Amino acid sequence: MVKKLPLERIIHNQGFGARKLCRLMVWNNEITVNGAPCDDPNAEFDLENLLYTVRGEEWSYREKSYLMLNKPSDYECSHKTQHHPTVYSLLPHPLVVRDVQCIGRLDEDTTGLILMSDDGQFIHRMSSPKHKVPKMYEVTCKHPVDDEQIAHILKGVQLIDEDAPIAALACTRVNEHTLHMTLTEGKYHQVKRMIAAISNRVEGLKRIQIGELKLPDDLEVGDWRWLTASDMAKLGVI
Ligand code: URA
Repeated sequence: MVKKLPLERIIHNQGFGARKLCRLMVWNNEITVNGAPCDDPNAEFDLENLLYTVRGEEWSYREKSYLMLNKPSDYECSHKTQHHPTVYSLLPHPLVVRDVQCIGRLDEDTTGLILMSDDGQFIHRMSSPKHKVPKMYEVTCKHPVDDEQIAHILKGVQLIDEDAPIAALACTRVNEHTLHMTLTEGKYHQVKRMIAAISNRVEGLKRIQIGELKLPDDLEVGDWRWLTASDMAKLGVI
């Protein structure tokens, strides 16, 4: 079924502001649709493959937003931050208006892959402990890590405030001080606490993979991009 909506509503529900403001933007010739200017807020457009520009910036119509961000250090994953800027300041404003949320939080000094979305079902699918989505971290440790410590992490370490020992799904050494560690839960400071439990200390932490989706080498620190169909398949959702 072809789904059509008036331009004013399209611009509004894509996050460009109140209906009245969106109407004014259309009247002001600030919008083009599929390559042609349109100054009629009531003109209806098919939403499928809809391309539009707002003040010269290109957008495609998206019912829901799915994106990845390469989080820099010294950014916080919350709206009400305490010491550092919010990761939401790295996104275009319309995505924030659409209430795109981080799927799981990284500490302020952790870098790397964060998924973000405004689709509640997707957020639940990716974050619910029931689904055990694996997340891989590159962990730089203060002291060299030996085989016994890796075996301990794989067998399970007892963390304060946890009923039972917690094990990593996988843990391999990249070099003397660096591990690749995969977890299926997202407990508070989990990597740092697990590394502390083997008498070591995390000096650098980067999330490099979620499910089968790797942090792309060409996504600069602080940049974001839309998730592609192939990314979604690697997350196991299509
Ligand atoms: N584990 C941590 O300790 N910190 C993070 O940011 C993510 C996992």
